[in-house]
Amino acid sequence: MHQDKENSASDHGDAAHSILDFYRWSRDYWIDMGKSSEGQSSGLLNFGLWRKDDTTLFEAQKHMCDEIFGQLPALASGALGLEIGSGIGGASVRLALERDVSLVCLDLLQEHLELGRARAVAHGLDENRIRYTPGSSMQMPFGAGEFDFSYCIESSFHYPDKMAFLRENFRVLKSGATTVIADITCSDNSKVAFRSGNYYCSSEDMVKWLQEAGFVEVRVMRIGEHVFCALYEFVEKYGQEHRGKLQRYWGLVLKNYENLWKKGLMGYDIFVATKPR
Ligand SMILES: C[S@@+](CC[C@H](N)C(=O)[O-])C[C@H]1O[C@@H](n2cnc3c(N)ncnc32)[C@H](O)[C@@H]1O
Repeated sequence: MHQDKENSASDHGDAAHSILDFYRWSRDYWIDMGKSSEGQSSGLLNFGLWRKDDTTLFEAQKHMCDEIFGQLPALASGALGLEIGSGIGGASVRLALERDVSLVCLDLLQEHLELGRARAVAHGLDENRIRYTPGSSMQMPFGAGEFDFSYCIESSFHYPDKMAFLRENFRVLKSGATTVIADITCSDNSKVAFRSGNYYCSSEDMVKWLQEAGFVEVRVMRIGEHVFCALYEFVEKYGQEHRGKLQRYWGLVLKNYENLWKKGLMGYDIFVATKPR
């Protein structure tokens, strides 16, 4: 069992093992919730950006991708992008099908990368379009200036050392490249009911740290009003048809987040920043 865990978590220590345990416990629940009404999987594990008429997490996760990709500049044909904390691969496949770019997906968990690879193959995308690399966002296995752009969706909240992540992100980008980071933000972690493995930071700290890492033209889009209430409502409805421990757990977590959002203590932000030329 230990050996199995080490392989799957690509040997990044205890933190990686607890992340592996967390996803082995709740990944299938999110995969199931993220299916379209026709049963198609989104390949995404994020909260989604809920537009007025969205009734499924599948639609909301598509809108989250659209919003993030919309922040990327016009990219030259064949540009190479990095997806940081790529999960089970839905975003990279979507982007590779939409634009003529190649991507490298980085994730701590080997089994997430394997699910991503299978998804890419199913969509006819080979290793020339999307490559899968195990590793930590805080110590990236890439050389300096390799990438034309990067993005990171709802993964940075897992990173205890945000400066290490932002410095690494800065280092591996080319001059003039854009990074887009989307995540939950929180200005008072003591009010978060379930804190294990979550390292939320405030929006202000993220901006300050992006600048300290060397990024310029830092912009923030606050999208919390399109995330917490609609997601909680959806999860509650889903829970009425799928009763169990996971439904109860996520119902409590998201009720807590909705309350914090209403009190102005939690947000969901998209940060856009540039490495200077
Ligand atoms: C909530 S999921 C989001 C996945 C994907 N970005 C999406 O939107 O569906 C977070 C992902 O971050 C990965 N992760 C957590 N800590 C990491 C680290 N230090 N380095 C790289 N990936 C990490 C997890 O394994 C997981 O796949």
